[in-house]
Amino acid sequence: MSVPVIAVQGLCKSFGSQRVVDGLDLTVERGRIYGFLGPNGSGKTTSIRMLCGLLTPDAGSGTCLGFDVLTESAAIKRRVGYMTQRFSWWEDLSIEENLRFAARMHDLREPRRVVDQTLERLGLSSRRRQLAGTLSGGWKQRLALAACLMHQPELLLLDEPTAGVDPKARRDFWSEIHALAREGLTVLVSTHYMDEAERCHRLAYIAYGKLLAEGTPAEILQTVGLSTWIIEAAPASAAAELKDRPGVEQVVPFGLRLHVSGADAETLAASVSAYAEHHGVVAARAESSLEDAFIALMRGRGSP
Ligand SMILES: Nc1ncnc2c1ncn2[C@@H]1O[C@H](COP(=O)(O)OP(=O)(O)OP(=O)(O)O)[C@@H](O)[C@H]1O
Ligand SMILES: [Mg+2]
Repeated sequence: MSVPVIAVQGLCKSFGSQRVVDGLDLTVERGRIYGFLGPNGSGKTTSIRMLCGLLTPDAGSGTCLGFDVLTESAAIKRRVGYMTQRFSWWEDLSIEENLRFAARMHDLREPRRVVDQTLERLGLSSRRRQLAGTLSGGWKQRLALAACLMHQPELLLLDEPTAGVDPKARRDFWSEIHALAREGLTVLVSTHYMDEAERCHRLAYIAYGKLLAEGTPAEILQTVGLSTWIIEAAPASAAAELKDRPGVEQVVPFGLRLHVSGADAETLAASVSAYAEHHGVVAARAESSLEDAFIALMRGRGSP
């Protein structure tokens, strides 16, 4: 089997007395799209910055693209495309000027040709002269992706690349990410969107700097082992009435439907059935969602 693109063990980072990343183990295989999830402040950005050589871990070891994360950060930086959480290109330069600048930064041999190719590849040609500051969120994100692809990195680190972007632009972006992965690029992407998590090959869920779950979306659902019921046309009082019953851990309204989940399938079933019978409403078993699973993980972990 080929060497993983990312293979790190026990990465730690503290800021002052606060341990922000606490013993992170991560293995990412070539050509995979790996999702990085977790609540605000859980250490996703810090982890990404340690992987691309911008931040030195306090402890731990491992490699990124075969280079040591502690001692060979310069080699890693050259081979990684890092899209930061906030748009970090020049708002008063056009798309083309920004890309020319990025080409110079990477010391590319044929900058004009590469810029033209990149504009074409990402569908930016028609807007090449538009100032970056006047672009909508979706186009800005496309420009940021273009800029971090120009030096043909082997690994893309995307930090919440689609935050605040509309659904159509997000879908297009993900199609592009999958196309790049098919060409052999490896992608580590942080996100808060569950539909995006489901589009990853594997996921890691971190909270308070610790890895709480790792695997394919299906494996994570299985590990958490949550059971979920849907109550149709639930009365307004249903949520309040159900939440304290045995086996009920989460009650979430979706329009007129109520999703009720818990880890103890039998006790939950008994509580929901008794409620449904008493109120004459329909309740049926349903698939648990990743969102339900992640919230259950957080509840299990408690506050830091
Ligand atoms: N340079 C820094 N100096 C001090 N504290 C920092 C620094 N960078 C991050 N932190 C703190 O470390 C914690 C983790 O931050 P990080 O940005 O890694 O989280 P995150 O998972 O990316 O969150 P979000 O989902 O909001 O982007 C936070 O409490 C943050 O305030
Ligand atoms: Mg972040």
